[in-house]
Amino acid sequence: VDTHIRGYRATDADAVVALSLRTWGPIHDSLRDVMGDAIFQRLFGPDWRDQQRADVEDALTDESMEVWVAEVDGTVAGFAAAIVKAPGGLGEVYMVAVDPPFQNRGVGTRLMNVATDWLRDAGCSIAVVSTGGDPGHAPARATYERAGFTPVPAVNYFKAL
Ligand SMILES: CC(C)(COP(=O)(O)OP(=O)(O)OC[C@H]1O[C@@H](n2cnc3c(N)ncnc32)[C@H](O)[C@@H]1OP(=O)(O)O)[C@@H](O)C(=O)NCCC(=O)NCCS
Repeated sequence: VDTHIRGYRATDADAVVALSLRTWGPIHDSLRDVMGDAIFQRLFGPDWRDQQRADVEDALTDESMEVWVAEVDGTVAGFAAAIVKAPGGLGEVYMVAVDPPFQNRGVGTRLMNVATDWLRDAGCSIAVVSTGGDPGHAPARATYERAGFTPVPAVNYFKAL
C-alpha cells in the first residue's frame, strides 16, 4: 500500500468533506449516547452533519490553517489541519480524520507526525490536540498517545435549559 501525505489542494475539498462525514458519524453516535438527546440536539441541531461540514469547510479555507491530505493508492483517505496559536509557543492540531476503511493502518499517526513537525518548524515549542473522553474518541486518544502527547483530562458539563 502506497501512503503519501501531501499539502491540501482546493480540488480535494469534496473528498475531504465526504470522508469527514463518514468518519465523524460514529463519534456523534457515541456523543449522543453519553450526553443524551436533549443536549445533543441543542448542541448539534437537527442534523449534526450541517455543523460538521461547515467546520471542516472553514478549516480548509482558513488562510492561517495548514492542511494536509493522506493519499492511499491515489485515494484521499484522511486529512489533518494545524495552526500556530502563539508564535514561538503553542501550536494546535485542530482536526484529524481518517476515512473508516483506511483506519488502523498508521495513517492517522503519520498525519499527526507531519502536523507536529510543521508546528515545530513554524517555531512552536509545544503542541496541543483536544478530544473527547467518550468511547467514540478512544481511537483518537490512542493515536495521540502513540504520537507522544501527554493526556491532561478536562470535563465539559452541559445542562439543557
Ligand atoms: C483518530 C483517527 C484519525 C486515527 O486514525 P488511524 O489512521 O486509524 O490511526 P492509526 O492507525 O495511526 O492509529 C490508530 C490507533 O487507534 C487504536 N484504536 C483503534 N480503535 C480503537 C478503539 N476502539 N479503542 C482504543 N483504541 C483504538 C489503534 O489500536 C491504534 O493505536 P495503537 O497504534 O497504539 O495500537 C481515526 O480513528 C479517526 O478519524 N477517528 C474519527 C475522527 C476523530 O476522532 N478525530 C479526532 C477528533 S478530536
